[in-house]
Amino acid sequence: MSILAVFNQKGGVGKTTTSFNLAAAMRKDQVHPLLLDLDPQCHLTMLAGVQTQLGTSLYGFYKEGRQLTDLIRQLPNGFNLVPSHIELCKIDMLLGREPRIATKLRQAIQSEMLETPEMPIVFDCCPMLGVLSINALVASERVLVPVAADYLSYQGAVQLAHTLTGLEHALKRKFQRRYLITRFDPSRKSSLEVVDKLRATFGEDVCKTVIHESASLAEALLMGKDVFHYEPAQQSAEDYAKLFEELVGDGFLPLGD
Ligand SMILES: Nc1ncnc2c1ncn2[C@@H]1O[C@H](COP(=O)(O)OP(=O)(O)OP(=O)(O)O)[C@@H](O)[C@H]1O
Ligand SMILES: [Mg+2]
Repeated sequence: MSILAVFNQKGGVGKTTTSFNLAAAMRKDQVHPLLLDLDPQCHLTMLAGVQTQLGTSLYGFYKEGRQLTDLIRQLPNGFNLVPSHIELCKIDMLLGREPRIATKLRQAIQSEMLETPEMPIVFDCCPMLGVLSINALVASERVLVPVAADYLSYQGAVQLAHTLTGLEHALKRKFQRRYLITRFDPSRKSSLEVVDKLRATFGEDVCKTVIHESASLAEALLMGKDVFHYEPAQQSAEDYAKLFEELVGDGFLPLGD
């Protein structure tokens, strides 16, 4: 079964956009994922149009002993979401020194038996390696790393690869990794150069599918819509549908086993 962290320490590279639209591509294929918004910025929660109180967000899980199962919202668009709350920005200060905090999410997923063949779990991570992102990575075997097609994002991806390798040593296991090029603009020389560099550095771990720069993708997010609902005939819908197909096809997202 698939538990997937969408993570990059670099901000604004398309983690939330990808979590949301990859989930929408799954739903289009009758797969109904569980999304966890592990970012105190609450972008995914906002996109999903969910209003949260402290106790009914992930804060309730981390600070008030609530079960994850009790926090899952079933949304009209077919997603299941555990929402975030801005107060989660204090979680490192509040819980950072607690023993076994790194495994809290993994243990809850296991003990509440949330890992089912029918429901892939997707973590939309924040752009920081703190308690929440560590929780996501410890709970995941797979990391999808969106990398915007610009030079600084390439450098960020190289740094992140070192971070993940360090974590692999600590956890004594490997992550399956995929790097997803986002905001790709074939008319920009810099975009093409960054793609070449990423493929030269990470080889087969770079997704063949790229997500193109797209005004309608950004507009869809403004309207709180996924690309399949907003403009299904657009490039972005094709990109995210292809991404889902590729990840399932190469075994990165093993659905239904
Ligand atoms: N392919 C794209 N084309 C155009 N705009 C995009 C694309 N992908 C993302 N964006 C825009 O870039 C901005 C950042 O995207 P997003 O919020 O998904 O990044 P993020 O990595 O989740 O950011 P953060 O690190 O703050 O969580 C958003 O305004 C989004 O609309
Ligand atoms: Mg985000």
